[in-house]
Amino acid sequence: MGSSMRIANIVGARPNFVKIAPLMAAMRERAEVEPMLIHTGQHYDARMSDSFMEQLGIPVPDVHLGIGSGTHARQTGEAMMALERQFEADRPDLVLVVGDVNSTLAAALVASKAGIPVAHVEAGLRSFDRGMPEEINRIVTDALSDYLFVTESSALENLAREGVDPGKVFLVGNVMIDTLLQNRPRAESLRVAEGLAVTPGEYALVTLHRPSNVDDRGTLAGLLEILEWLAGELPVIFPVHPRTRNALERFGLWAGLGKVPGVTLLEPQGYLEFLCLSSQARLVLTDSGGLQEETTALGVPCLTLRENTERPITVTEGSNQIVGTDPVRVREAVRGVLARRGVEQRRPELWDGRAAERIVAILIDELGGRAG
Ligand code: UD1
Repeated sequence: MGSSMRIANIVGARPNFVKIAPLMAAMRERAEVEPMLIHTGQHYDARMSDSFMEQLGIPVPDVHLGIGSGTHARQTGEAMMALERQFEADRPDLVLVVGDVNSTLAAALVASKAGIPVAHVEAGLRSFDRGMPEEINRIVTDALSDYLFVTESSALENLAREGVDPGKVFLVGNVMIDTLLQNRPRAESLRVAEGLAVTPGEYALVTLHRPSNVDDRGTLAGLLEILEWLAGELPVIFPVHPRTRNALERFGLWAGLGKVPGVTLLEPQGYLEFLCLSSQARLVLTDSGGLQEETTALGVPCLTLRENTERPITVTEGSNQIVGTDPVRVREAVRGVLARRGVEQRRPELWDGRAAERIVAILIDELGGRAG
């Protein structure tokens, strides 16, 4: 290859930062690649963005598009317009996107129409639930991508079923777990639980932010009743996502939740603080996709408050159970976890801390070959 390959890495929302960190680091190790970082600004709070970038050693973005919040069409459209201008002014050789947020979709659409090859990291995951905005983002992004990097074998099957050329698909492992393994010792030294006056290994950690759980008053109120019951079993720590906080305030539920004995509400946490809390939890209740994978890597029991998962390996090999939001089912699952010590699980194949290295090596091979 002649000059180095210019890769535009796109991030927008919190989970993207965790995934891009090891990729940027691996790209900076290789002279064949010249990485740049473009932040759409989908997440803009210090709590949701800057603190992650700092803690994970992600370089300051070369470009910040400042799109902010909005409806799906507005947020995606703003990101597309800004990215189109950006790629016209400074055309990269490849656009790399991660995950399934609106910024991921926007970048894949703009790049593919501009004839710029697209790499999608965390391709092929499917919940088969098109009520989830992320499912739509995943399907469209994968359909447009030239290089699809997958974390688990279910994704290989999904992409094959959708007619994706297997020559474009690579099972490489999980970049989010690269970040987790690298940062776990540093995170655990923070002793966050002790600072909240709870004992490591003896509390439940809760996160909620999926629109299907938090945007409807009845569903959200039902989940709060579950938390109230749970707090009678063991202390509950609940870092509250801004979307969830907005919904709680809008529905008049925020003040009451703050008074439930045994429930500690926190602001959104930094990456390291949150990893400290998750790695030392007795159990995790969540509707997050990423946290299902992180608990699997940590061997911490996870109850997923959804009816489905796009990450089935966390159930078949990991520590995850899909329990939905029915209080009876959730309570039974909590009791089951508390009655057992330890979980039977193994860390999935290739979730070994080296996924980003593999991805960068494949891209250099593929694109280097093509450029001759
Ligand atoms: C987005 C992703 C979701 C991901 C989640 C992680 C999409 C469709 N969804 O959801 O897949 O799991 O990020 O956090 O892309 N807000 C702030 N500060 C911020 C950002 C948002 O207060 O920095 C508030 C705003 O009120 C905003 C709301 O949170 O309206 C939702 O933000 P948005 O980016 O639309 O979606 P998330 O729910 O965060």
